Amino acid sequence: MSGPRKLHVKSFGCQMNVYDSHRMADTLAPEGFVETDVPDEADLVILNTCHIREKAAEKVYSELGRVRQLKEAAANEGRRLMVAVAGCVAQAEGSEILRRAPVVDLVVGPQSYHRLPGLLARAGSERVLDTEFPVEDKFDFLAAPGREQIRARGVSAFVTVQEGCDRFCSFCVVPYTRGAEISRPVEKIVAEVERLADAGVREVTLIGQNVNAYHGEGPDVRPWTLAALLHRLARVAGIARLRYTTSHPRDMDESLIAAHRDLGCLMPYLHLPLQSGSDRILAAMNRRHTRADYLDLVARVRAARPDLALSSDFIVGFPGETEEDFRATIGIVEDVGYAGAFSFKYSPRPGTPAAAMEQVSEDVKAQRLRRLQAVIDRRQAHFNAACVGKTVDVLLEKRGRRHGQLVGRSPYLQPVQVIAPASLIGAIVPVTITEAGTNSLFGDLAPSMRVGETRAAAARPLATAGA
Ligand code: 5AD
Ligand code: SF4
Repeated sequence: MSGPRKLHVKSFGCQMNVYDSHRMADTLAPEGFVETDVPDEADLVILNTCHIREKAAEKVYSELGRVRQLKEAAANEGRRLMVAVAGCVAQAEGSEILRRAPVVDLVVGPQSYHRLPGLLARAGSERVLDTEFPVEDKFDFLAAPGREQIRARGVSAFVTVQEGCDRFCSFCVVPYTRGAEISRPVEKIVAEVERLADAGVREVTLIGQNVNAYHGEGPDVRPWTLAALLHRLARVAGIARLRYTTSHPRDMDESLIAAHRDLGCLMPYLHLPLQSGSDRILAAMNRRHTRADYLDLVARVRAARPDLALSSDFIVGFPGETEEDFRATIGIVEDVGYAGAFSFKYSPRPGTPAAAMEQVSEDVKAQRLRRLQAVIDRRQAHFNAACVGKTVDVLLEKRGRRHGQLVGRSPYLQPVQVIAPASLIGAIVPVTITEAGTNSLFGDLAPSMRVGETRAAAARPLATAGA
């Protein structure tokens, strides 16, 4: 084969998909594929799809319409563009995609990414579908990224530690598309994090659909909790910050709460989806906790880490949600005082129990979403404004939009824009916040940092932020 082949991966949805997209690219690198941001020059386009909310499949089909034009343009130049659909829509729709979209050469579910090289070879001569849940552990076969690749992806990295979910919330498609919950063994995760740290990564976010249900096998052949894993990873040289997402309230055990007290490198920010503030709706959602359980949990985590900021996910217009139920959601958003939250209109997912329940009208859903988002935005603005005048540790990640500016993250995950030399990328520096926008903060490097003390900054132990 002459010259490298070019791969363009388009990711939809969550961080899990972003991670999977990277691992697919890593696995195809030994096959001679290099990544490109430019779809027009690609020899292989992978759409890594998400099925969690609204019209997911329709979005994929319309995206495939655009890809068809690319394929035709490539054919006119005498090139063959291969097209693969991966992710949860691939898993859920399967052969329907091959039927409806002749442009597609390969449909591959999330559990089969390690088989991509072989599947692609087959797809050269026939249309291929692989949506099985294989017995082998795909993580054992997915290639690791090289040092340069890790660097190019930045100083903050994601690592999948568990996948799938056994909780079966009645609205959620994840247990069907990602399958039963599996946790990766501790040593494999440690090795991956060490490799990342070695290439300059400073912050690792452990990800999984229900990450705090983690129970991977430890070196002692016993299942380890997420807290035990975090303690182990805190010892990896070079890693200054740890985070994890997304958690189910029922899986926040005492050891994890204690980790927020005991581990300085565990960032004081917890994404803890509540979905609804109404007990009636929580029960119909099969969340298996009440509003009071959640508030009690929040109080316990905040007692362990007083500067902890919280975020959440909410669904409005779940089947049977009354105005009173909805007001309970608004009420709890005010009571908890979230630093931020995502909110969504309920969208029936085929095959899930809630899809068969009596639905709330679109108008009501839209109106409730607007009302909830207004409250969340006000809360977020309040949280951001309260940071002005404080000095917080910022991990500088990349160049900002303006010349001379870098952008990093506060411990609370807020983007922070600051004038700083590019040599400080990867350093954790104290920044005095001068201004708060809706989504990001602006600040000045603390005076001691302005002479470019990169090494000192990089070695600085993580102080708790001054929030
Ligand atoms: N409709 C709307 N939102 C949903 N989510 C999951 N399933 C649905 C659905 N069917 C939201 C939940 C979850 C987040 C990732 O997506 O709030 O926490
Ligand atoms: Fe879906 Fe999360 Fe519920 Fe699992 S815990 S079913 S991933 S919403």
